[in-house]
Amino acid sequence: MDNFIVAVDGPAGSGKSTISKIVAKEYDLTYLDTGAMYRMVALCSLENNVDLKDRGAVSEMLDGIKLDIQGEKFILNGKDVSHDIRTPRVTAIVSDVAAIKEVRVKLVDLQREISKGKKVILDGRDIGTVVFPNAHLKVFLVASAEERANRRLKEYKEKGIDISFQEVLESIQNRDHIDSTREESPLKKAEDALEVDTSSKTIEEVCNKISALIEARL
Ligand code: DC
Repeated sequence: MDNFIVAVDGPAGSGKSTISKIVAKEYDLTYLDTGAMYRMVALCSLENNVDLKDRGAVSEMLDGIKLDIQGEKFILNGKDVSHDIRTPRVTAIVSDVAAIKEVRVKLVDLQREISKGKKVILDGRDIGTVVFPNAHLKVFLVASAEERANRRLKEYKEKGIDISFQEVLESIQNRDHIDSTREESPLKKAEDALEVDTSSKTIEEVCNKISALIEARL
């Protein structure tokens, strides 16, 4: 099989990237973190003081932007921003950036281009609904907001970022709201996606479930 697409969608902190990375390794798939691509555009807008309401300025930024993705290394206009894109200041605006049509058109094109002729697992919000509606396998991960906030808080702590549980929870709830109510490609489970609640499951249990489905399709 030349082309094989696994779509993993779900809200922030549902376990998409952790699970996708493990499954990618197991089946030698290319892993594409599409949220990181939206984060790169968000960082670029911050660094260049782009007014997100000014569509002309946003389009101009998009014309000049260079996104280079080397596995889990993200290079924005020649600079490694893998760490910078995970900071709370980027997280605070990324949902607004991802709601802009021009941004989505550019990144969806790039996601399809990167995946061409490959075996790929992509995680995001609209992979199974918009980017690859004919994906070979679609998974939709969910978990309670509190559980997701706890996971993110742990990640921030490990990186030495000082933030409270309440702040993380509010940020997650705010992003859930913007991501699922926006006009352009809202966060939504594809009808033919398998929903997995990761709240009370171990990473291994979720991976085993997905692995069985991949094996049935490969
Ligand atoms: O998964 P993440 O937290 O890194 O995603 C960052 C933001 O990007 C999130 O608010 C939603 C948006 N996003 C999106 O709209 N579509 C995708 N395919 C991936 C992410």
